[in-house]
Amino acid sequence: MNISDRQSIHGQWSSRWTFILAATGAAVGLGNIWKFPYLTGQNGGSAFVLIYVVCVATLGIPLMMAEILLGRRGRSTPIRTMQILAEETNTTQWWQIIGWSGTLAGMLILSYYSVIGGWTLAYIFKSAAGTFSGASGQLATDTFSIFIGSGTTLFFWHTAFMFLTMGVVAGGVQGGLEKAVQILMPTLFILLLLMVGYSMTTGFFGKGLTFLFTPDFSKISGTSMLSAMGQAFFSLSLGMGTIMIYGSYVPKDTSIASTSIIIALADTVVALLAGMAIFPIVFATNLEPGSGPGLIFQTLPVAFGNMTGGLAFGSLFFILLLVAAWTSSISLIEPLVTWLIENFGLTRIKAAIYSGVVTWLLGLGTVWSFNWWAGLTFFGLTFFDLLDFVTSNLMLPLGGILIALFAGWLMKAENTKAELRITNHTTYVIWRNLVRYIAPVAVFIVLLNAVGIL
Ligand code: TRP
Repeated sequence: MNISDRQSIHGQWSSRWTFILAATGAAVGLGNIWKFPYLTGQNGGSAFVLIYVVCVATLGIPLMMAEILLGRRGRSTPIRTMQILAEETNTTQWWQIIGWSGTLAGMLILSYYSVIGGWTLAYIFKSAAGTFSGASGQLATDTFSIFIGSGTTLFFWHTAFMFLTMGVVAGGVQGGLEKAVQILMPTLFILLLLMVGYSMTTGFFGKGLTFLFTPDFSKISGTSMLSAMGQAFFSLSLGMGTIMIYGSYVPKDTSIASTSIIIALADTVVALLAGMAIFPIVFATNLEPGSGPGLIFQTLPVAFGNMTGGLAFGSLFFILLLVAAWTSSISLIEPLVTWLIENFGLTRIKAAIYSGVVTWLLGLGTVWSFNWWAGLTFFGLTFFDLLDFVTSNLMLPLGGILIALFAGWLMKAENTKAELRITNHTTYVIWRNLVRYIAPVAVFIVLLNAVGIL
């Protein structure tokens, strides 16, 4: 088949903007607002932020381009795309591993993502019920501990979030959701700006900014570098096929380079704003910056509880965060669902149910790792920590390296150049060297460094 005739059987975006919106919707999520601040807090702040931003710019953008490129050329599920491209380049079918490991990683990530999505859902109701009116840092922290201490409560909210996700996936109504995203994501952005405005009134804004932006390299270790890199992959949704599958619906004439830059910029700005909103409150309420996954649930309610209109504002904020999480969670399971459809001839609904049930079951491990099974650790990590470590810090970066190597070394330069539609030769050469040498070597060094070999 002629490459220009290749079409995804699952559809095509109506325009470049729809793709940018959908990919930004997949990228901006709990990773930016929940995970980025708590990892920053755990890893000592500023130096972590700096490494994160450097990783986004030097690894994230070129790898995103490579991943969209593979997706658009193969126009199929990540597994099938790699099969097609391996044939096209006359190399071994082993490259399919990118697709397999990515599809698995997406499911593993969704299993815990759904648990945190459930927290967000629960906090909409808590905020609306006025739980946080006049709340002190202590009250917010206590409320959170009681909340995650209950295995039954978390079970309920995880199940609810999973229903929301699989409902959309089964209905295939991404179209409707995209329309919602056009309004809701900008609203979330404005609310974040207002939150930053509130943080300016806490008297600790300067301290928050120093914590985030005055690099202190004494706080950096091999493992924190690995977390910063893993977080760059996680936040941009790279290394597992989400971007590949979204790329497979991209129209032929879209510029992959500028699109990737826009997505990465939007994603990073949201994460930094979240940090600027949260850390001043952390210091104002004497909370420990390294207190972990509960950080935003322990700090933001204090702001909502003490500002005028906080009741409505707080509920709205968690609703929008829920939408952001929702658009991301759909993208995590899309590779598995489309693979089931293509290979077993399942209907979309059946494929969604099967994937949903398996992911939901796995998610129970995370649900209970915060309470009943909190004492159960592997290598000193709880089930949730271990799952997060293996996916974000190992599977995504390794998937990313393989994608970079495939695009940089195996695909013909004329093909990648044509596909990327970069007219400026120097820009193309820079990209090619980044994916051939810099990205794989950098990821490798960080990985070896983290395990103490280097
Ligand atoms: N990037 C999303 C977030 O920040 C999560 C996500 C969606 C993701 N798809 C992904 C992470 C693929 C890794 C890989 O919330």
